[in-house]
Amino acid sequence: MKIKTIKDKNYKGRKVFLRVDYNVPIEKGIILDDTRIVATIPTINYLLSQGASLIIASHLGRPKGKPSPEFSLKVVAERLSQILNKEVKFAPDCVGDEVRKMASELKEGEILMLENLRFHPEEEEGDENFAKELASLCDAYVNDAFGTCHREHASVYTITKFAKDVAGGFLIEKEVNALSKLLTNPEKPFLLILGGAKVVDKIGMIKNLLDKVDTIITGGVMAYTFIKAKNWEVGDSKVEEEAIPLAKEIIKEVNKRHLEFHTPLDHVIVQKVSEDAIPIVTERGTVPHGWIGVDIGPQAIEEYTDCINRAKTIFWNGPMGIYEIEKFAKGTIEIAKAIGNSNAYSVIGGGDSVAAVNKAGVADKISHICTGGGASLEFLEKGTLPGIEVLKE
Ligand code: 3PG
Repeated sequence: MKIKTIKDKNYKGRKVFLRVDYNVPIEKGIILDDTRIVATIPTINYLLSQGASLIIASHLGRPKGKPSPEFSLKVVAERLSQILNKEVKFAPDCVGDEVRKMASELKEGEILMLENLRFHPEEEEGDENFAKELASLCDAYVNDAFGTCHREHASVYTITKFAKDVAGGFLIEKEVNALSKLLTNPEKPFLLILGGAKVVDKIGMIKNLLDKVDTIITGGVMAYTFIKAKNWEVGDSKVEEEAIPLAKEIIKEVNKRHLEFHTPLDHVIVQKVSEDAIPIVTERGTVPHGWIGVDIGPQAIEEYTDCINRAKTIFWNGPMGIYEIEKFAKGTIEIAKAIGNSNAYSVIGGGDSVAAVNKAGVADKISHICTGGGASLEFLEKGTLPGIEVLKE
């Protein structure tokens, strides 16, 4: 897929509206992870080096269409300023007279960051008038908000009808290339590692990849849902009941295609989920009555590591257990390490798996780490996203 990129345009003396996804985790005013901010720096530096001034816009959280101090982007603008070692002006809103004035006074090389786009319901509604007003601030539009490209929102989708010189930034280009590589002739064997919860949200992606993958390994709620779909005992482990019919369908498809499909050979189990619980390991791939599966066991780690070592292409989404609790993190961390040590082309999507590779210290050994969980899943399901379609050549 070929998208219009910033390399194809001239930005000298132009005001660029740069849509980014700075929806970063913030607790008590402190940014816990700035990966999404850092990921846009090459685009920002390039546009500035070409003589542009930047109007940077993003959403943060889900403030339900009205202003709310806890969702203000001010702290994000401050972090961006620190990273760039450069002033980042901050506008109190994203539309209106004051913003228009601030944008019009912006000089070459200067940066203005707008307040949260989702303080206006029109953003999520994809409203045309709102999009027109955003477009009127600039004379070129660049989208580098990969994590939001699955949303048909005003600033990622509708705005492209009104803005001049629409293009994708370097981050979007990198994400699209990395994910497209999984869909178009991936080197075999192709291993799909599925974990975590939100099974229903991932079914579309799994179905689309069934024609491309050779092996699937599962962990976490995903595994317990498949185990239950096979009518095996899961004890009190967390299962997504509404996904069971879909899981049964997938098992049927997997069998029809003769794919290698694994649920864990053994499990780490507890009687209650807490830091002081005393875990034991099951002897087989089921969980006895009254017990809860919280991680994959040592035999599963060994088998899954072998699958990873054999793979030439890997996509991983979702942890192998409740990795937030140290005692139950071993399976997830060992999988992260094995991927880090493998020579396969590896792509990781989803906040928890990304956190796991960071925790395991192997992030720099992964071929590509996606900045968008929902967006990467939808891209792998449909081969494109609404916000990417409007950037196509
Ligand atoms: C994300 O974090 O996945 C993106 O920023 C999109 O956020 P949303 O799910 O609230 O639309």
